[in-house]
Amino acid sequence: MLKLTLVLCATLISPALAQCTYSKLQQFTSEYISAQASGEFVTTASSASYTENFRPVNISTGLISQPLKVDYSKSLHDTTTCSTFTEYVVTDPSHPYVIGTQIKYTPDGSQITNIDSIVTDSDDWLFNATGTFYYASREDWFVIPEEQRDTRETIKAAADAYLDLFDDPSVIVPWGTPCARLEGGLYSGQGLPNDTCNVGVPTGVPIVNRRYVFDETVGSVDVFVDFGVNKIPDSHEFRVEGGKLRFVHTMSVTGPRD
Ligand SMILES: *[C@@H]1O[C@H](CO)[C@@H](O)[C@H](O)[C@H]1NC(C)=O
Ligand SMILES: *[C@@H]1O[C@H](CO)[C@@H](O)[C@H](O)[C@H]1NC(C)=O
Ligand SMILES: *[C@@H]1O[C@H](CO)[C@@H](O)[C@H](O)[C@H]1NC(C)=O
Repeated sequence: MLKLTLVLCATLISPALAQCTYSKLQQFTSEYISAQASGEFVTTASSASYTENFRPVNISTGLISQPLKVDYSKSLHDTTTCSTFTEYVVTDPSHPYVIGTQIKYTPDGSQITNIDSIVTDSDDWLFNATGTFYYASREDWFVIPEEQRDTRETIKAAADAYLDLFDDPSVIVPWGTPCARLEGGLYSGQGLPNDTCNVGVPTGVPIVNRRYVFDETVGSVDVFVDFGVNKIPDSHEFRVEGGKLRFVHTMSVTGPRD
């Protein structure tokens, strides 16, 4: 069966040539999804820290080591920080999941240092894996032509403005049109050209401890956050086009974490 032998691969790369390239990160996310499908995520990164919903979990027994039938996945690849984010959906009726995983590598991409997953299922906010699958797979997160790409700073500013709005209603958010929010399995978009994401957010909700994975090629950033005073483990992923919000995907672990 397919195993992730990242360290073995790394030993074949001469250190002088070792770099965290986009294609290498793409290979890693594709191997990650295959490994999740087989339940054989094996890495000599036994030293890698692994968390589920921001709590340490044994990598040999956690969800990462269970075979899951992955129906949909989409990944971000951040060559600046040598990290990736993968959003994936398991609709298997025996136990549906929607999972978001940030993986960090050493700067040369030779070894995993951190694997952090947000794992949502039936007791979590607006959970509906078939809904997430349905809506996410219809969105177009196309590769943005190089000359039209937003910088990391622009993408970060749009994401931060949205997250700041929950604790400061005066923040100016660069709303795009159309824009759609996929929260759990609930979709705000009607498929109309005037769809807006400016349909209200709660107030008095500080969103802190933000951990970002960017991918400028698709105008995106995923942010793991502590959501609100109860520090709900949460992922907010944004797609920005021309500096303005186009898509927002959220996963929020409101149910019991154990
Ligand atoms: C993790 O789980 C494996 C397999 O059950 C076990 O052998 C190992 O001792 C566990 N590690 C820790 C740190 O508990
Ligand atoms: C989940 O989403 C699917 C697809 O949109 C929809 O048909 C179904 O009614 C939703 N289920 C619930 C419980 O909302
Ligand atoms: C969007 O367009 C539809 C159909 O043209 C219209 O009914 C609706 O009121 C518009 N919505 C907004 C927010 O402008």
